[in-house]
Amino acid sequence: MTFKYVDNELYAESVKVSEIVNEVGTPVYVYSKKHFIDQFTKFHRAFKRDHIICFAIKANSNLAVIKTFADLGAGADIVSKGELLRALKAGVEPSKIVFSGVAKIKDEIEYALDSGILMLNVESEDELLNINAVAKEKGKKAPISFRVNPDVDPKTHPYISTGLKKNKFGVPYEEALDLYLKAKELEGIEIVGVQFHIGSQLLDTTPIYDASVRIAKLIKELNSRGIDISVVDVGGGVGIVYNDKEDKEPSIEKYAEQIEKAFDGFDLRLVFEPGRFLVGNGGILVSQVVYHKSNGPKNFMIVDAGMNDLLRPSLYNAYHKIEPLFKKGNKTIKCDIVGPICETGDFFARDYEIEDVENGDCIVVFSAGAYGFTMSSNYNSRPRPAEVLVDGDEFRVVRARETLEDLIRGEML
Ligand code: LLP
Repeated sequence: MTFKYVDNELYAESVKVSEIVNEVGTPVYVYSKKHFIDQFTKFHRAFKRDHIICFAIKANSNLAVIKTFADLGAGADIVSKGELLRALKAGVEPSKIVFSGVAKIKDEIEYALDSGILMLNVESEDELLNINAVAKEKGKKAPISFRVNPDVDPKTHPYISTGLKKNKFGVPYEEALDLYLKAKELEGIEIVGVQFHIGSQLLDTTPIYDASVRIAKLIKELNSRGIDISVVDVGGGVGIVYNDKEDKEPSIEKYAEQIEKAFDGFDLRLVFEPGRFLVGNGGILVSQVVYHKSNGPKNFMIVDAGMNDLLRPSLYNAYHKIEPLFKKGNKTIKCDIVGPICETGDFFARDYEIEDVENGDCIVVFSAGAYGFTMSSNYNSRPRPAEVLVDGDEFRVVRARETLEDLIRGEML
C-alpha cells in the first residue's frame, strides 16, 4: 500500500499528507509514483510475449505522470491532438503511440502522421476515407488498424461499456473483413493491426478473453485473404478495487494468460491500453471540511471539493472510499459528503458512515488517480485543484492550482 495510516495519520509513501496540505492547500490531488511504477511492472511482467503498454492517458494526463510511464518504456493511447501533444512532451516514443476515438479530424490526423505514430485506430468507413485523403495529400501512408466491435458484454457500468452492438464504438464485427479489403486498395493506407476495447472497470477479464477469441478468428480470416496483421491491440479495461469490502481485484496473471492463449500461434505484437489499472489507486483527493449541517434527519458534511473536481460519484454513482486524514477516534456519523456546487448531484458519498471530521480538518477520497483530475472542470467558476506527485520522502507540485486569472484567460468583454 502506498497510502497508509501510521499513528492514525495518512502517509503517501514516506510523506505525511498533512505536510502537503499545509504547503499546497486543498482541494489537492496527491499521486504516488511508487504505485504507478509497481502497477506498470506488475502488468509488464505478467506477459511472456513481446508487447507494448500504451498508457491510456485520458485516465491521468498530467505530464509528470505520463513521463513516469514513458521512462519505464511505456507508449501512449491517445484520443485527441491535446493528448498527442502531452504524450510527445512527456517523452513517449511516437512509434509507441496509438490514436483511438470515433471522430479524428483532419488536423489531428495530420499531426499524427507528422509525428510518426504506431497506428490510428479507425472506427468507421467515413473515417477511413478521410484518413486516406489526408495521407494522400501529404504523400504518406497512414498506418491503421480497425477498432472492431466484438459484440461482447463486458458486464460493467452501461456508461463505460463500449463493445456491444448498441454502442457507438468501432466497426461491426461482421463488416470488418470487407472494410479491411477496401482499406487494402487505398493508396494512403497501410494496414498494421486490429484493435478492440470492450469497456472499463472490468473486475472479471473473461469478456476480454471471449472478445480476443473472436478477434483471433478474424485475424485468421484476414491472413487467408492476404492481409498481414502485425499488431493486435486489446484495449484497456482491467478494473481496480474501489470498495475493499465488495470488489475483488482481477488477476493480472490470469488476464495475461487468457490473452496469450487467445493469440497463441499468431506472429504479432500485443498492444495494451490500460489506464485505470496503472493509476487509479495511485491517487487521492484531499479536501477540507468546511461545514456540517442537518436538514431534518439528514446530515451533511460539506467539503471544499466538488463535482467539478471529481465527477465520478455524480456521473456514475461511483463508490469511492472516504476517510479522515487524521483518525482522531471521534464518534462515527452517517452523512452525505457533499461539495459546494449548486447541484443536488454534487456529492462524493451518500448515507456514508465515517468517523466525524471537524470543520477545518480534512477528508481523503481514495482511488482518485484515474478519471479524477482529467474529468475536472471549472463549473461554478472554480479554479481546478493542484496536483502533487510523491516520490519516496519527497513531493512536488506537478500542476499548480489554477488562479482566478486562469479562469478568465482568453475571454473578452
Ligand atoms: N482504450 C480505449 C479505446 C478507451 O476508450 C479507454 C477508456 C481505455 C483504453 C482505458 O480504459 P481503462 O483501462 O482505464 O479502463 N470516465 C470513466 C471511464 C471511461 C473510460 C473510457 N475509455 C470512469 O471514470 O470510470
